[in-house]
Amino acid sequence: MSVPTTETLLQALAGVEDPEIHRPITELGMVDNVSIDDAGRVAVTILLTVAACPLKDTLSRDTDKALRAVDGVTDVDVTLGVMNDEQRAALKQQLRGGQAEREIPFAKPGSLTRVYAVASGKGGVGKSSVTANLAVALADAGLRVGVVDADIYGFSIPRMIGVDYPPTQVDDMIMPPESNGVKVISVGMFVPGNQPVVWRGPMLHRALQQFLADVFWGDLDVLLLDLPPGTGDVAISVAQLIPGAEIIVVTTPQQAAAEVAERAGSIATQTHQRIVGVIENMSWLELPDGTRQEIFGSGGGQQVADSLSRIVGTDIPLLGQIPLDVSLREGSDTGSPVVNSNPDGPAGVALRGIAKGLATRARGLAGRKLGLTPQSR
Ligand SMILES: Nc1ncnc2c1ncn2[C@@H]1O[C@H](COP(=O)(O)OP(=O)(O)OP(=O)(O)O)[C@@H](O)[C@H]1O
Ligand SMILES: [Mg+2]
Repeated sequence: MSVPTTETLLQALAGVEDPEIHRPITELGMVDNVSIDDAGRVAVTILLTVAACPLKDTLSRDTDKALRAVDGVTDVDVTLGVMNDEQRAALKQQLRGGQAEREIPFAKPGSLTRVYAVASGKGGVGKSSVTANLAVALADAGLRVGVVDADIYGFSIPRMIGVDYPPTQVDDMIMPPESNGVKVISVGMFVPGNQPVVWRGPMLHRALQQFLADVFWGDLDVLLLDLPPGTGDVAISVAQLIPGAEIIVVTTPQQAAAEVAERAGSIATQTHQRIVGVIENMSWLELPDGTRQEIFGSGGGQQVADSLSRIVGTDIPLLGQIPLDVSLREGSDTGSPVVNSNPDGPAGVALRGIAKGLATRARGLAGRKLGLTPQSR
C-alpha cells in the first residue's frame, strides 16, 4: 500500500477541533509539522496556545485518532509544542475577526446573541439553579450557550454546571471552560481557594466588562448572566455594557410580590431594558399520591408578573413554575444539572418547558434596535 501524502494527512487533521476554541486545528495555525515516512509512520507537532492548556490530552488523543484513521498510516507520534508570541498574536487576531480589543461582541448592534440577565428580589430563591439548568437545557436543544456568573459574592454556577478545570489564558484572551455543553466563566475561577471577594462597584463593573470582552465566547446563541440578588451595581453595569440584555425575574410563591416587582420594574424602566418574564421557583412539592403541597403559599409568581405588567405597561408573562424537587438540589451539588440527571422529574420537566419557550425566541432581530440613525435631509 502506498503511504498517504501530507495533503491527505492535513485533510484528516482538519477534522480535529481545538477542544476550547471549537475550530479545526489546521485553521488555527496549530499544526506545526506533519510528516510521514515510507513505513507509514506519522510524526506531527501540534502547537498549544499555552503550555498549561488543560485540555492538551484531549487534543493529543483526537489528533492521534484522526491520523490513525487514514489508510496507510501505521503509527502516529504526536509532539506537543507551544506557540510563540507571534503565533499567538496571529491566532488572537484571527479569533477576534478584526474586532477591536476590549469590545463587547454582544453589545454590537448586529449581535444575534440573546442576552438574558437572571435577577431576583432577594437571595436564596433559586436564581443560580434556574440559570444553570436553563443554560444546560438550551444547550441540549442545540443552541450555543454561555453563562457569566455575575454574582461576584456568591458564585456557584461552575459547581452547579460541573465545570472542573480552570479557564486558559492566552495573553489577555480567556478561554472559558465548558461542561454539559455550556461555556462558563465566573469570578470564582480567578480567586484562589474559597476566599470571599470584597469588591466595590467600579471593580465589579470592570470585572464584568472583562468577562464580556476578554473571554473568547465564539458565536453564541444565548448568553445567561446570573446576577447577584437584589437590585444593584451589577444590574446597572449589565445595562450599560449590554444595552440589549433582557431581564428574567425569579421569585418564590411567598415573596412580597409587589416589592419584588417594583424593584425589578424600576431598574428595567431606568435602564430601558426589556423584561422577558417571571419564573416562579419552589412552587409546590409533589406528594407520592400526586397531590401538590404548596409549602411556600401560592400565586407569588403570577402576582409579580401582573404588577410588573402594570409598572412597565406591557404584558409580562409568567414563564413557568418550578416545583420543589430533591433531584434539583442533588444535581446542583454534584455538577449534573437536573435537566440532564432527572429530566422527567417534576423540576426537570418544568425547567425544560421554560427553556423550550426561550429557545424558540432565541436568535432573531425581531423587536430589536437595529442601531440605525435616521438621516435628516
Ligand atoms: N426547585 C427546587 N427544589 C429543591 N431545591 C431547590 C430548588 N430551587 C433551589 N433549590 C435549592 O435551594 C438552594 C438555593 O438555590 P440557589 O443557590 O440556586 O439560589 P440563589 O437565588 O442563586 O441564591 P443566592 O442568592 O445565594 O445566589 C440551593 O441549595 C438549591 O439547590
Ligand atoms: Mg446564586
